Amino acid sequence: MSGGGRGRRRLGAAWRRRRPLRTRLALAATAAVALVAVGVCAAAFLVVRSALYEQLNLSLTQSARLAAQRNPDSGPGTLAGECRFLAAPACAEVVPADPAKDPAAPYLLPVDAGTRAVAAGRRAPFYTDVVHAGHPARMLTTDYAKGRALQVALRAGTVEDGIEQAAWWLALIGAGGVLVAAGLGYWVSRTGLAPVTRLTATAERIAATRDPRHRIELPPPGPPGSPAREDEITRLAGSFNTMLAELEQSVTAQRRLVADASHELRTPLTALRTNAELLARGERLTPEQRERASLALGRQLREVTGLVNDLIELARDEEPQPLVEQVRLAPLVEHCAAAARAHRPSVPVRVRVDEVVVAGVPARLTRLLSNLLDNAAKFSPAGAPVEVELVARAGGGAELTVRDHGPGIAAEDLPYVFDRFYRAGAARALPGSGLGLAMARQIARAHAAELVAEAAPGGGALFRLTF
Ligand SMILES: Nc1ncnc2c1ncn2[C@@H]1O[C@H](COP(=O)(O)OP(=O)(O)OP(=O)(O)O)[C@@H](O)[C@H]1O
Ligand SMILES: [Mg+2]
Repeated sequence: MSGGGRGRRRLGAAWRRRRPLRTRLALAATAAVALVAVGVCAAAFLVVRSALYEQLNLSLTQSARLAAQRNPDSGPGTLAGECRFLAAPACAEVVPADPAKDPAAPYLLPVDAGTRAVAAGRRAPFYTDVVHAGHPARMLTTDYAKGRALQVALRAGTVEDGIEQAAWWLALIGAGGVLVAAGLGYWVSRTGLAPVTRLTATAERIAATRDPRHRIELPPPGPPGSPAREDEITRLAGSFNTMLAELEQSVTAQRRLVADASHELRTPLTALRTNAELLARGERLTPEQRERASLALGRQLREVTGLVNDLIELARDEEPQPLVEQVRLAPLVEHCAAAARAHRPSVPVRVRVDEVVVAGVPARLTRLLSNLLDNAAKFSPAGAPVEVELVARAGGGAELTVRDHGPGIAAEDLPYVFDRFYRAGAARALPGSGLGLAMARQIARAHAAELVAEAAPGGGALFRLTF
């Protein structure tokens, strides 16, 4: 690439960077319309000029024919018309082929080798623009009687005036066209880019205020039944609004999680601190009291650790894509059941599984299932079995149910058990923080599955996970 080309390109880039899009669009539209206006005017000028010259050429041909008819065989010299001042309708001269034997030379009209060549029959007739006696004229040189040429000239003043006038008018119209183009370009860029301007303003407002509640105003929808008036910009604004709504939702959810978490952490942390302070004054306690306090401290520490871990998991949104794999559910269910049995030997866990494969993250699915099994075992009286069933559905889906024979979930609690930190009144005496089901539902949603709680027929709770 040449240095000049590179420099020009750099200049162009700098220009693009400096000018706002609206100005660039206006200039481009103006340039396009102006180019068309100027092009049309130029073309019109050429057409007018050639038509006027055509007219003049026709008159010249007729004059030449008339002169030849009136003087069928004239010698060299002026034939008709006042050639000196070119005042007559037409001025005609006869010129012989041989300049050496030409008594009439010099002529008033210009005679050159071309004229002699036409006289000798070596060249076709032709037209020339000449200036004669201070006036613009057009001249036809054509063949005449043998060995002679006929030159006819007509004043071209009126034609030239006409052409000049046409040029002026067309230039005026062209300039007007450019002005109108500039106005139109400005208008087009203004109206065309108005939604973009609004979009930019909204984005800037959000960046400045960090408040995702702002929305871009969309044009009101037409009357029902009319076709949707959706251009690209409106669609872009619509997508932007959708994105903002999601952002707002996510921000709100995160804020609520933090608020809930800090609220829920306060009680166990206070208890923890009380026990820690108690132990710090250990010398005043009996050995049994110290033993009890340290046991409580350990338990509370484990609870808080579990709570914090659960919160961290809940704060995660999507399953990280690289971890997603094809998971065989049957062994996963067996594994979770075995873990539940080991954890609470008093509650038998019965498993019935089909072969099912789903796309997912094994560790997260294990977490989901162990949360359900943990609840089932926790709320089951000793000896009452927990039943886990995995059924492959026709059409590729699958359904996993976990059922227990405990007290079940009261109808008024059913809508809330999946909320964070929600624990039914009856469950308050049992350990737990109310995060297990919230996490289970979040994992289910991330796997495009639906988790619902129901009352099992014959008593107990039933959780149904549908892939
Ligand atoms: N199998 C069940 N039987 C009866 N009630 C249940 C059952 N599973 C859940 N619940 C009710 O739903 C509430 C929320 O359950 P979740 O698992 O979210 O919390 P948790 O078990 O109390 O605490 P965590 O799981 O965080 O240790 C429970 O407190 C309980 O009231
Ligand atoms: Mg639980």
